[in-house]
Amino acid sequence: MNILDFQKMKTEGRKISMVTCYDYSSARVVADSNIDCILVGDSVAMTMHGFPNTLSATVEMMALHTAAVARGASSKFIVADLPFLSYRKGLKDAMDAVHQLMSVGAHAVKLEGVGGHEQIIRHIVESGVPVMGHLGLTPQSVHMLGGMKVQARSAATLDILSAQAGAVENAGCFALVLECVPTIAARRVTELLKIPTIGIGAGAAMDGQVLVYQDMIGLNPGFMPKFLRTYANTFESIQSALNAYDRDVKDGKFPSESESYHESFVGAETVKNRTRISERKYRLTTGKIQPLTKAG
Ligand code: KIV
Repeated sequence: MNILDFQKMKTEGRKISMVTCYDYSSARVVADSNIDCILVGDSVAMTMHGFPNTLSATVEMMALHTAAVARGASSKFIVADLPFLSYRKGLKDAMDAVHQLMSVGAHAVKLEGVGGHEQIIRHIVESGVPVMGHLGLTPQSVHMLGGMKVQARSAATLDILSAQAGAVENAGCFALVLECVPTIAARRVTELLKIPTIGIGAGAAMDGQVLVYQDMIGLNPGFMPKFLRTYANTFESIQSALNAYDRDVKDGKFPSESESYHESFVGAETVKNRTRISERKYRLTTGKIQPLTKAG
């Protein structure tokens, strides 16, 4: 998939599938799947670093994770999030952040909101970097929104959302993420825009969907928002694999003979003889009768 396919897919009525990804080994799994594109989201601060929200993500953190994902999924279209305030400190800082993310393998950047940074979006786009917008629940504004709440729940706030969505499109964004809005609002915005909309908690009337990788594979137990569908129970699978390994180690069942190296040891006979001699010496000097080992 490349940038042109986003518009093509909307025009042809084909849905876009997107998933977040933050590390090399998960990226290899996504690379080998049918998923259309990857978001290295600033949710990395929560999923991979354990912070309570996305405000702790930094440009350096985003660049490190983007680079790892790019190494694992070089064939996928990768969008990287511009983190909290990185595009609100002036053009130079914003462009430095964009530069860092693009130079490690991102194909596009995503940023939240539009008011006050339309010019910056335009400048990034005119610099040859595709920009994805993000409206509705914008987690970087969690304190301004009074929590992680469903947005655009009235005709008046839907009008504001529609105007913002229009501004995102006019500024040159190639796609728009809509997070946690009622289906009626998401449908209106999707019909209004020429660019594709990608939803999370925005119902089915979207041009595509995005989910957080850890959430959809069941690696985030306890997090069960209404919009989430989990497709695997990875937490339990990994946990039972770990417990099986622990059991085998403690029962002496791991590693087995076939999981150990025997061949190509130079001087195996000498080692066996020395072991035999030192065991004999030990029994003689201590008077202890030791059980004979295989070498004895
Ligand atoms: O950072 C993220 O994971 C996101 C998605 C929720 C769209 O922005």
